[in-house]
Amino acid sequence: MAVKPVLGLDIGSNSVKLCQLKPTKQGWQLLSLGVAPLPHEAIVDGALMNSGAVVDAIMELVATNKVREKNAAVSISGHSVIIKKIPMSQMSMEELEESIRWEAEQFIPFDIEDVNIDVQIVREETEMANQMEVVLVAAKKDMINDYTSVVVEAGLNPLICDVDVFAVQNMFEHNYPNYGDNTIAIVNIGASNANINVVAGGIPTFTRDISFGGNQFTEELQKELGISYDEAETVKHGGPDADAIANKNNAERILEGVSETFSMELQRSLEFFSATSTERPLSKIFLSGGSSHLKSLQTVMSHKLGLPIEVIDPFKNINLDHQGVDREFIKNVGHVAGVAVGLAMRAPGDRYL
Ligand SMILES: Nc1ncnc2c1ncn2[C@@H]1O[C@H](COP(=O)(O)OP(=O)(O)OP(=O)(O)O)[C@@H](O)[C@H]1O
Ligand SMILES: [Mg+2]
Repeated sequence: MAVKPVLGLDIGSNSVKLCQLKPTKQGWQLLSLGVAPLPHEAIVDGALMNSGAVVDAIMELVATNKVREKNAAVSISGHSVIIKKIPMSQMSMEELEESIRWEAEQFIPFDIEDVNIDVQIVREETEMANQMEVVLVAAKKDMINDYTSVVVEAGLNPLICDVDVFAVQNMFEHNYPNYGDNTIAIVNIGASNANINVVAGGIPTFTRDISFGGNQFTEELQKELGISYDEAETVKHGGPDADAIANKNNAERILEGVSETFSMELQRSLEFFSATSTERPLSKIFLSGGSSHLKSLQTVMSHKLGLPIEVIDPFKNINLDHQGVDREFIKNVGHVAGVAVGLAMRAPGDRYL
């Protein structure tokens, strides 16, 4: 029997995204996609400062998309989440689940009582005799509670709690199935966070969240050009409306400067991966998230890191032929939906916290 799909609900600091997919014989089909902007600073540093606004955004998305499904998958990211790939003695999944709380203590900078833990065996054998590799995920209960509470308050059932990097990887694997053997970095750049995931042979090998995103570009434009937040957002998006607010060359120079800073930070993370890993070298960087469409960032990053960059289309391999699906809307804002799409592909019993 086919597993009943869940709603993908990505609570980002800039907007909440809702995605509903349907499994068909030919693969996934999009039923609905919605994006509801949040007031500025409704979520700061991952903390829900204005829960009411988040609840309203979720309810609005459910109503406007006429969604009947109640079960949802949500995700979290940032400082409250720890992801580590660790070697362990070979054992069954049952034994691993029993022993992981004891093992995890040495890898987690939080009190073990304050976290939920999930673990997956990613390699049953390694070069070392009787060893396997597991990916350990630990997330603060407080944060999980905060995020699931707003979903409950909005009338939905948060069945799965995932983490952003894995949701993006899930979405990527479905849309770009040919990268199995290579080492690639998937970088999801939102408004306040960037989630980095180096995937080698399909396995998440190095992950890191950095507090850097589209807001930094907006803030720098505001500061340098003396304009409002809304004006700076318009300038950042480019086009004729932007030219009316600021000189194109000036704006470009500012965006390039911030792109340099971000690329250097990314480079440091990737160099740390290269220095500590025995995997094949990185061959490409895939970008997702709202800020992946910043042209200056793509150019500067490719130049600085000396690697090809490709922007992920979260709907590349998804059937859009459902009535009511607005292709123009997807063309314009679909790039922010990567996490939501990956969450909507989750099944109860998958990774959860
Ligand atoms: N076409 C575009 N060009 C430039 N920037 C864009 C574009 N589209 C969206 N953005 C920027 O992307 C950011 C929003 O991205 P996204 O929706 O992925 O973030 P979020 O998930 O809400 O936030 P986070 O995950 O960081 O908390 C905003 O800073 C927005 O200005
Ligand atoms: Mg996000």
